[in-house]
Amino acid sequence: MSVMVTGAFGLLGSNVCFEFLKENKKVVAYDLVCRYPKFLKPYENDPNLIFVKGDLTDCWYLTETIKKYDVTHIVHTAALCDDPASVKRPNQFLKTNILAGLNILEAARHLNVRRAVLVSSRAAYGSYAPLEGPLNEGTFLQPIAFYGAAKASVDLLLPLYRKHYGLDAVSVRPTGLFGPGQGENGTGQTGPTAPIYNILNHVLNGKPFRLDSGSEHYLEFVYIRDLAKWIKAILESPNPPKHPIYNLSSGIQYQIKELAAIIKEFVPEAEILIGPGTLRGFELRAALDIRRVQEEFGFVPTPIKESIAEYINYIRS
Ligand SMILES: NC(=O)c1ccc[n+]([C@@H]2O[C@H](COP(=O)([O-])OP(=O)(O)OC[C@H]3O[C@@H](n4cnc5c(N)ncnc54)[C@H](O)[C@@H]3O)[C@@H](O)[C@H]2O)c1
Repeated sequence: MSVMVTGAFGLLGSNVCFEFLKENKKVVAYDLVCRYPKFLKPYENDPNLIFVKGDLTDCWYLTETIKKYDVTHIVHTAALCDDPASVKRPNQFLKTNILAGLNILEAARHLNVRRAVLVSSRAAYGSYAPLEGPLNEGTFLQPIAFYGAAKASVDLLLPLYRKHYGLDAVSVRPTGLFGPGQGENGTGQTGPTAPIYNILNHVLNGKPFRLDSGSEHYLEFVYIRDLAKWIKAILESPNPPKHPIYNLSSGIQYQIKELAAIIKEFVPEAEILIGPGTLRGFELRAALDIRRVQEEFGFVPTPIKESIAEYINYIRS
């Protein structure tokens, strides 16, 4: 098995690389940039970590890399992320995210890659209100911006590659990610919908965290270490995944004040002041239904308290 991880130095990609490197497995780390989060530093000179600097929109270079390293399995995490930003630069988001996904599918088909896991997003579903959920993989896709539309586009193409060419490829749809590596070197989402990161970034640096409103806003997260392990498990599963698409999340939403209360338990000196109501400028969204992946793979999300505690230990270490 020779694994290539795209977006290898982003938040998710670096955590996926970590899962393989921990087991002394070789990873071809494909990215535009090379930057090591704290947990990857010990692997900086590890011969198992092969950095390939490349742009995924360049299909020729991608296929040459797959051939050169005899890549048999691909985890495709690379993307330009963020719905609001994609409205400012639609051309760039569509070109990068659709073309990169298409190139991965084409390269996998022509070079007989044994399995590929492509990372999509909850954004492919769009703005379903809480009462319209939980959203399952058959829910109609109605993205609200170009980032989600690009994810939805690749999610529509992937089942055709399975059907017409027998390609063993799946797409996974996570919700918001949090955990080790977030915000290090500018990776991952760190805006207002990333309160775990933002609160910890303040209080663990001895600063108070204040927000005018948002304490009653519900958000759904997936712990990055769970997500990376699950993606690796899907990639390595002895049986081909039965479905083209899987929601991959915790399936549980928390109010920001609940997350703040958990943080306060572990950091009693933390000063956290969040005003009432929902986050200004952000809608409440329906949760994801994760029964499909649970029934087939038996994944159990780490309880939120445990994952926040682990993340705090990581930051403090
Ligand atoms: N961060 C979240 O909360 C979240 C939520 C749902 C889904 N996702 C999805 O998860 C995946 C990973 O997200 P992340 O937070 O780790 O992102 P990130 O921004 O931290 O990392 C993305 C990586 O992709 C690389 N990249 C971008 N364009 C490239 C190109 N053309 N060629 C090669 N590499 C390129 C970047 O250099 C970066 O290292 C993405 O597909 C994203 O859409 C993320």
